[in-house]
This record gives sequence, C-alpha cells and structure tokens, in this order.
Amino acid sequence: MSEAMQSDYSGPERVLSGVQPTGSLHLGNYLGALVKFVALQDRRPFLFVADLHAITLPQDPKALAGQTRAIAAAFLAAGLDTDKAAIFPQSAVREHVELAWVFNCTARLGWLERMTQFKEKAGKDKERASVGLFTYPVLQAADILIYKATHVPVGEDQKQHLELSRDIADRFNRDFDAPGFFPLPEPLIQGPGARVMSLKDGTKKMSKSDPADLSRINLTDDADTIARKIKKAKTDPEPLPDNLGDLKARPEAANLVGIYSALAGTSDAAVLDEFGGQGFGAFKPALAELAVEKLSPMTAEMQRLMGDPAEIDRVLAKGAERAREVAAPVMDEVRRLVGFWRG
Ligand code: TYM
Repeated sequence: MSEAMQSDYSGPERVLSGVQPTGSLHLGNYLGALVKFVALQDRRPFLFVADLHAITLPQDPKALAGQTRAIAAAFLAAGLDTDKAAIFPQSAVREHVELAWVFNCTARLGWLERMTQFKEKAGKDKERASVGLFTYPVLQAADILIYKATHVPVGEDQKQHLELSRDIADRFNRDFDAPGFFPLPEPLIQGPGARVMSLKDGTKKMSKSDPADLSRINLTDDADTIARKIKKAKTDPEPLPDNLGDLKARPEAANLVGIYSALAGTSDAAVLDEFGGQGFGAFKPALAELAVEKLSPMTAEMQRLMGDPAEIDRVLAKGAERAREVAAPVMDEVRRLVGFWRG
C-alpha cells in the first residue's frame, strides 16, 4: 500500500525520533539510533524519551522518571547539543495522546493485526497483553505526525511501524479531505549499525529484553565487561573471509564485522581488507579495543550527567516547551478537520 501513495505535503522538513526508557541502552540503540541522531543534529531534530510507550508493558512507577532522565543523559553524552536538538519526555506533550486517539479511529484493525512487534512482545498469551501494546504503533504515528515530521532515523526493526505511520497519514488526509495535511514520513534506516545482532546468536537482533546479558553490550558496561562480552561472543572456527559475499553466509562473523565498521565509521569491505584471512583470536581484541575507545568516554559522561538530575530536568523542560509550540497548533488544526467543538 505504502509504495503507491503520493505525498502532496509541501511543508518544511523535520527530523524526529524516540527511544523507550525501558532497561539500559545497548550498542544496537547507540549505532542504530543515537549515532544517527548526532549526525542529523544540524537539522534541529525532535528527540523524545518514549515513556508513554514504556507503560505498554509493566514499569515500576518509582523508577520510570529516573529511566527517562537516563535516556536523556545518553542523548547528551552521545554528543547531542540542546541548542540544536529538542530533547523531551513524550508524556510532557499531551497532544501525542490526543492525536493518538484520533488515529485510533483512522487506523484499521487489520493493519495492526499485521504488526510483528506486537506478536513478539505479547508472546503466547496475547489475551493478557495490554490494549496499549496492541495500539502502540498508532501512538508512534501520532508521535511523528503531531510535529508533521518528514524524516525518522530508526533501526531496521522500526520499519514496519513507519510504514503504518505512512498509511495512517495517507488515510487521515483522505478521510478528512485534506490532501497534503500530514506528510508521509520516511524512515532513515540506511547505513551501518541499522541492525545490530545478538552476540550470542547472529540471527536475532540485539535487544534490551534478551534475558542473556552476554548477548548485548550495554552503554553502562565498563571496559572490562565490554572486552569480556566480545571475547565470549559466538563465532565460527573459520578465519574472516576477504569478500562480502562469503561474509553474508556467516551471521555471527558478519555481525562483528558490522559492529566494527559502524564504530569505526568505515565500511564492511574496508574491515575485510584489513582483517580478511585473520582468525577471531586477532579480530576480537581489535574490536574490543575499538568498542572501549568509542564507548567508555560516553559511559563516563552519562554517569557524570546522572549525578546532576536538576540539569537534565532543565534540558527536558526546555525541549518540552519547544515541542509544545509545534504540537499545539497542529492539534488545533486536527480538531478543526475532525469537527470537534473548539469554542
Ligand atoms: P526502542 O526504544 O526499542 O529503540 C530505540 C532505537 O534503537 C533502535 N534499535 C536498534 N538499532 C539497530 N540494531 C538493534 N539491535 C536495535 N535495537 C533497537 C530502534 O530501531 C530505535 O530506533 N518504537 C520505538 C520508539 C518510538 C519511536 C517513535 C521511534 C516511539 N515513538 C516515533 C521513532 C518515531 C522503540 O521502541 O524504540
């Protein structure tokens, strides 16, 4: 459906993305999202901590605000500048929820039933999942479209949700006879690091919810832990190949090479030029050294920032104010289009 849609939108470009405050961030979040946010920051992105999404699964109310601050600290430690990026908690801008309700009436049940993430997160007992978990992608569409965002940097796993956002935008524009009112947002997924896999299984994505801590590198891990996890990462007995074709057939090797190239800011081909023919005994220590070199300063900065929650709160309040200024007039237009009483 998405391919055939045409956007009549002619408004300005806006970059937006969100990260959930559930568990500590890992290397996949860093390479798939944070690094891209920093690269795009001259486009004044809107970047929020998705605390509304977090409660689709049970959260500890005493811990949630702290987790929200920790994500904001990670954004800052990764190199985001608050004069460029608006960093804010999703729940602080109520228009997200208001638009999500309207979109609940725009999206079709059949569209949501196709969402693979719901199936994964709900598990076997989907009757017991929250309704919020089911309508999660509708809120995600509202997050994007309440700012009329046009470009959304995310990891590969969010592709289907982005397609749904496009479908919702298109359907709303048609239902309310408002061509080009909402843009059809484009995912920005390309580039290395868009799909970082588990260190224990090269066919599964690296994930916060994997019970095995050895499967991921957390942004809170110290240098020894990072090195140990890379040393214990699953591999095969062959040396690294010297070409991309042979690498493809070896998921664990491909993952480690991909992590190396993403961290070094180069390509898989360049990494194979350097390490092709060498065994993991040589490659893993080089990867561990690179990972520690790139991640340790950020971990230290996150810890420093977390020692000053009042400063993080100032950042979040400033970002929320900027976000509300954009969201409120869009919501007002939506209320007019839908026909709500506006006084
Ligand atoms: P979340 O919190 O699960 O992940 C945050 C970002 O990290 C990316 N990511 C990965 N990238 C590469 N390899 C991996 N293994 C990996 N794991 C996670 C995700 O793709 C994401 O970009 N639904 C979103 C949050 C959200 C959102 C939005 C994003 C809510 N509203 C609106 C964009 C626009 C999520 O759960 O991300």
